[in-house]
Amino acid sequence: MKVGVIGAGMMGAGIAQVAAAAGHQVVLTDVDSSRAEKGKAGIAKLLDRQMAKGALEPAAAEALLGRIATAGHSDGFADAAIVIEAATENEALKQKIFAGLAGKLSAECLLATNTSSISITMLAAATERPDKFVGLHFFNPVPVMKLVEIIPGLATSDATRSSARSFIQTLGKTSIVSEDSPSFIVNRVLCPMLNEAIFALGEGVGSVEDIDTGLRLGANHPMGPLTLADFVGLDTLHAIMLVMQKATGDPKYRPAPLLSKYVEAGWYGRKTGRGFYDYSGEKPVPTR
Ligand code: CAA
Repeated sequence: MKVGVIGAGMMGAGIAQVAAAAGHQVVLTDVDSSRAEKGKAGIAKLLDRQMAKGALEPAAAEALLGRIATAGHSDGFADAAIVIEAATENEALKQKIFAGLAGKLSAECLLATNTSSISITMLAAATERPDKFVGLHFFNPVPVMKLVEIIPGLATSDATRSSARSFIQTLGKTSIVSEDSPSFIVNRVLCPMLNEAIFALGEGVGSVEDIDTGLRLGANHPMGPLTLADFVGLDTLHAIMLVMQKATGDPKYRPAPLLSKYVEAGWYGRKTGRGFYDYSGEKPVPTR
């Protein structure tokens, strides 16, 4: 089947990669074709690493990349069976993207969003097909993480839920279903934990290294919470906490002051080269 992906950043490129690896034809788009090409080049780099490890045959890598077309617009979506939006975590931007798709998709096409916290019901209402709209929440790094959350909105039909489940199965991932509740299941639990680690850092409870080592070795997490926050993106984490705080009115979800400060400074974590670690050298160096 044909899969459209909107947004060629970390998440969109990852989704394009796993869809193409599953044999689907993919159209990867972004605001301009050079950004979409950059996303595809990132996929090629990851495939090179797999080939170097002997985990992927060159012919398979070439075939996978051959199934990913790139574009700077949504014209290639006319015969897509599903279009997945993975743009920046911003409500107005996502609504604008969906409004721009009107008339460009087939009547049967499913529309999905990879939002990590915004109401699916509300985003669906901005489209001409709320019954065919569903949340599909992938995790970073998409090629490695085995889970996808399926979030039906109020208007999502049973047929759409079941097609979404079948599609996720074709990707070899496990799906769980979450109610359309702020941040769904995984981020509802995970993000307050990351935010709490930043509170602890801000209050001087421990250093970056000690907080991370503590959770890695004391709770068997694969990454410490500050490393993971840098990995997810501090801007994204901040946006998720604000959505949870606004939606619930519960002050327990307020972003840690130090998180807000880092976002104000433009220190978004790995993607900007600095967060709780400095990524400019060969190895990340803790900054506090
Ligand atoms: N993209 C693709 N593949 C990657 C990758 C990336 N960014 N990073 C690592 N990998 C692959 C490696 O190639 C390697 O593959 P093979 O087993 O085939 O060789 C495998 O993952 C393991 O990698 P490493 O040995 O280099 O490193 P590791 O064992 O430390 O694992 C990790 C890296 C998988 C990222 C691991 O540290 C981990 O699971 N961390 C937690 C990730 C997590 O919690 N993600 C969820 C974030 S929350 C989210 O995404 C939701 C949201 O809305 C905010």
